[in-house]
Amino acid sequence: MARRTSSYVCQACGAVSGRWAGRCESCGEWNTIVEEADGGIAAGPGRRPQKGRVVELVPLDGDTDEAPRIVSGIAELDRVTGGGFVTGSVLLVGGDPGIGKSTLLLQAAAAVAIAGHRVVYVSGEEAVAQVRLRAERLALAAAPVALATETSVEDVLATLAAGPPPALVIIDSVQTLWTESVDSAPGTVTQLRASAQLMVRYAKASGAAIVLVGHVTKDGQIAGPRVVEHLVDAVLYFEGDSGHQFRILRAVKNRFGPTDEIGVFEMTGAGLAEIANPSELFLGDRDAASPGAAVFAGIEGTRPLLVEIQALVTPSPLGTPRRAVIGWDPGRLAMVVAVLQARCGVRFADHDIYLNIAGGLKIGEPAADLAVAAALVSSLTGITLPADTVYFGEISLSGAIRPVPQANARLKEAAKLGFARAVAPRAVADEAGAGAVTGLDSLADLVARIAAGTTE
Ligand code: TYD
Ligand code: MG
Repeated sequence: MARRTSSYVCQACGAVSGRWAGRCESCGEWNTIVEEADGGIAAGPGRRPQKGRVVELVPLDGDTDEAPRIVSGIAELDRVTGGGFVTGSVLLVGGDPGIGKSTLLLQAAAAVAIAGHRVVYVSGEEAVAQVRLRAERLALAAAPVALATETSVEDVLATLAAGPPPALVIIDSVQTLWTESVDSAPGTVTQLRASAQLMVRYAKASGAAIVLVGHVTKDGQIAGPRVVEHLVDAVLYFEGDSGHQFRILRAVKNRFGPTDEIGVFEMTGAGLAEIANPSELFLGDRDAASPGAAVFAGIEGTRPLLVEIQALVTPSPLGTPRRAVIGWDPGRLAMVVAVLQARCGVRFADHDIYLNIAGGLKIGEPAADLAVAAALVSSLTGITLPADTVYFGEISLSGAIRPVPQANARLKEAAKLGFARAVAPRAVADEAGAGAVTGLDSLADLVARIAAGTTE
């Protein structure tokens, strides 16, 4: 008889090792390693190795059909998925508990069902009554969505096979699924992987679009991230902070569409409302009269987005001054501060720095460097920046201002929202011609202009 083997799997990162340890060597988490019996779906006990079948090899070019999509009609969601749910694909939607994943997906389910497709919503977390209450609150109780509360993959698949073939299946959440095909306890990485694999197989075989909801851990990753993320066709994150009304849906992986698009929603008393013009929202309650605020003309995906960057620079009582950053990369802030010190003689060594992206947005673009530098210098000197000016440009370690992509889209959005001037890399000003754009060669240029109180 074959010896039963088991391996030790970290429940945080999915790393597998041959022995138990108190701390995972891969991710450094403590007490996350659990013994799991070996044997995924393919290698279950009693399976005989099968003889391989010869598959057809084809050239790279040839006729391909554009994957058919199910449009949800929620424009912000369709934008992020790349034009709707792709039939036969699996989409993972991750996010913190309470951020609004179930709300978003119930709204999407209802919209697709109302459009005439069969939609099955499987809730493993909430009772039927809770889902019904939410539907009522969203005024969607009349939508023909088929609802079930179930956590066993076998039962879910049997249910789906018994009824008419669904076009869209929503599983809320993937962490509650468990399958009999593996021995591990429900909730373990092995269970998660096996369950997700079975759902992926079902999607490919049936042509249904499947949405898996996943909770994220405190450090922002879907629990057992590597094991599920690579199995699915697309991964979207639903972010936002519970203190703010708006939520951002962001694609981090998409086999059928762009990965840099965002969708913006606002959580209202009656569910998630789409925000078609996010710049207006992010600039909503701007206090342009105080120093330390600079408006950044950014790009999210294909969409220009204006946001306010706020800096507060205060004398520090500490030996090692504080640097607190919300919504931006702390490493990049350190770089901008270092360049300001080394190339422009602006010293922050005795000051605490607080940097905040207004509205809870997270910015990843290097183009925000210039706006951050402007906000920092403004706060340090107490000189208010002109209220009608936007900033964008990447700062290099030499202190030069480097060009950034899509300058025209940024300028257009700024003009649309009533900003008369832009401070940008030199190349942008040259292209735009004389007038509204101030071109900068170096960061020292920016500092001099702020000190002189002019952007001309
Ligand atoms: P939910 O969709 O249950 O979050 P998740 O599935 O990501 O855990 O949403 C939870 C929060 O949203 C909850 O705190 C209440 C709030 N909410 C509203 O503000 N308005 C609404 O219409 C709904 C349905 C929820
Ligand atoms: Mg939920």
